Amino acid sequence: MNAQDLIDTARMLVADYKGLLAMDESNPTCNKRFAKLGIPQTEEARRAYRELIITTPGLGEYISGAILYDETIRQQKKDGAPFLQVIIDAGIIPGIKVDIGAKDMAGHPGEKITEGLDGLRDRLKEYFQMGARFAKWRAVITIGVGIPSRGCIEANAQALARYAALCQEAGLVPIVEPEVLMEGSHTLSRCSKVTEEVLQTVFNQLYTQRVMLEGMILKPNMVLPGLTCSQQESVDEVADATVNCLLRAVPAAVRGIAFLSGGQSGELASARLNAMNLKFKLRSPTVGQSPSPWALAFSFARAIQQPALEIWQGKDANVSAAQQALLHRAKCNWAARRGEYKAAMEGTGA
Ligand code: 13P
Repeated sequence: MNAQDLIDTARMLVADYKGLLAMDESNPTCNKRFAKLGIPQTEEARRAYRELIITTPGLGEYISGAILYDETIRQQKKDGAPFLQVIIDAGIIPGIKVDIGAKDMAGHPGEKITEGLDGLRDRLKEYFQMGARFAKWRAVITIGVGIPSRGCIEANAQALARYAALCQEAGLVPIVEPEVLMEGSHTLSRCSKVTEEVLQTVFNQLYTQRVMLEGMILKPNMVLPGLTCSQQESVDEVADATVNCLLRAVPAAVRGIAFLSGGQSGELASARLNAMNLKFKLRSPTVGQSPSPWALAFSFARAIQQPALEIWQGKDANVSAAQQALLHRAKCNWAARRGEYKAAMEGTGA
């Protein structure tokens, strides 16, 4: 591993107010989203959709890196050009999802453990040779009655740390994604406590496994009330809770934090990211507060892709309109990183 290369890649992934586009849905997840819209669940439909995404004109102005799935990284455009080359030519760094999914955890009803460590060193070597420069692994933590358990948090944190160490050995920047799900009726304060415990456990394990914090990106959930909680806090309250939780749990050496969207609407995700960046922008040393120690960026799948997918509907005639919708969401999130996103940008094509 070349430490400076890892640091440079991590820095580039959060530079210039850009963020990551997660387009690494596994085949079952992608098919589920297609099925809802009546799009055929075939390899060709998945290929055509991913071609639509990566050929969006101007995408590289707002997107620094794209996270791909194993099927996608090996695919080509209809004219034969490899996806990887198209992405690199657009000024976007290619990345790859390397976990093989969250499975039921033995002895822990209602909880999941992410698998994929066996054979990972060889897979990472191949992805690096293909041109990928970063990777992603997602752990899933569910809030419910009596959960999450320590057993689930610790097992997932250790797997994330072992994955991250292998990535750095292979020259890939690890995107470390411990996702506390928003499904449930829990309060914002419960989500905050759980997220803080999860992040502290993850960083403890990253330290134990000798992961270089400057050469990684954290991909956390925002701190949110559960979807069915009767109290839904304002954008500012969510931004405060999220920033305070991260300040307590994430070391300043971490280069960047790139949130997942987790099922929030595109507009809400942009507004909340904007509020967080605005807070740090307004903080000044003269009033005794510091700017953010890390870049606060995005690594959204649904909150960038969903409108485009709904417009596309599997039809060639809709490609251009879908690409405009995708670019719009990418631009809104770029603006949110600058603290310049406004609700008025919506509906205007911005
Ligand atoms: P969402 O933004 O749709 O949550 O997806 C992010 C992601 O990469 C999930 O692993």
